[in-house]
Amino acid sequence: MIALRTAFIDSFIKEQFDKGTRQIVLLGAGFDVRAYRMCLDGAQFFEVDQPELFDAKEPLFAQVPLQCARRVALPIDLGSKHLNLVEGLQRHGFNLTQPSCWVLEGLIMYLKPGQVQQLAKQVSALSARRSTLVHDAVSATANKMGIHFCGAKFRSGDDDYARLWNMAGFATARVMNWGALSADRQMGQVSVDMNVADASPRQLRGNEAVVLVTAYKPPEARAREPQGRSRIQAGQLQHRQKHLNRFAALARSDGASSGDKDEDAHE
Ligand SMILES: C[S@@+](CC[C@H](N)C(=O)[O-])C[C@H]1O[C@@H](n2cnc3c(N)ncnc32)[C@H](O)[C@@H]1O
Repeated sequence: MIALRTAFIDSFIKEQFDKGTRQIVLLGAGFDVRAYRMCLDGAQFFEVDQPELFDAKEPLFAQVPLQCARRVALPIDLGSKHLNLVEGLQRHGFNLTQPSCWVLEGLIMYLKPGQVQQLAKQVSALSARRSTLVHDAVSATANKMGIHFCGAKFRSGDDDYARLWNMAGFATARVMNWGALSADRQMGQVSVDMNVADASPRQLRGNEAVVLVTAYKPPEARAREPQGRSRIQAGQLQHRQKHLNRFAALARSDGASSGDKDEDAHE
């Protein structure tokens, strides 16, 4: 199951790279080694995970050559009430005007619903047009089964991830049934069976299911004349920057007044 997930996400990233995306952000990166094995010449990998994870990972890979232009490790608690992805990424050269590909592989289920929503908003605010994302997740009923994986408890599941991403600003979102995926071992490829319908909220309600979610920010509608178009882009960027500044100000003021300990703040 995990090999299938990895192969699907590999091909998703490769597809975005081929379309021109050069910023790949791995949230809850864990021991992901895509920066060392995918041969994406010119790509930048931003890996985000808990500080303790990088304490273990960095020494292990110190001598391993990269297969990309650059890799940045960002120790950030993605569940923090004072989450400020914006500052961390921008400080390390993340470009707000360029499309990005966000990978949340094996992460969402370990965050509480409020934390997932906060994260979705920040991901969207950082995502230029043509940005994309991919993640796996479980249905609400599956989450209620009290699943633990390697000692970590699942904390969220939802029957409508398309809504989550639509509300955050990704206009196009698709929720696939796990059963639609299959591996073609001879070709070394993963394929999605078009005859298997996507997982609707109605189908997921009351059922234990694992899903794969992809979402896209489409390019803006073409403006008639170039001047108008650049005005639109500048306006959109200003609007996003306003959001980003708000996240940063909130994180600063909350952090200053109460410290960064409130792990359960989103319940
Ligand atoms: C199941 S592992 C998945 C790792 C990797 N993405 C993969 O698929 O192999 C979940 C990862 O999410 C990270 N994680 C869980 N909660 C987190 C949080 N609040 N902030 C940052 N990372 C977190 C864990 O440290 C762990 O590396």
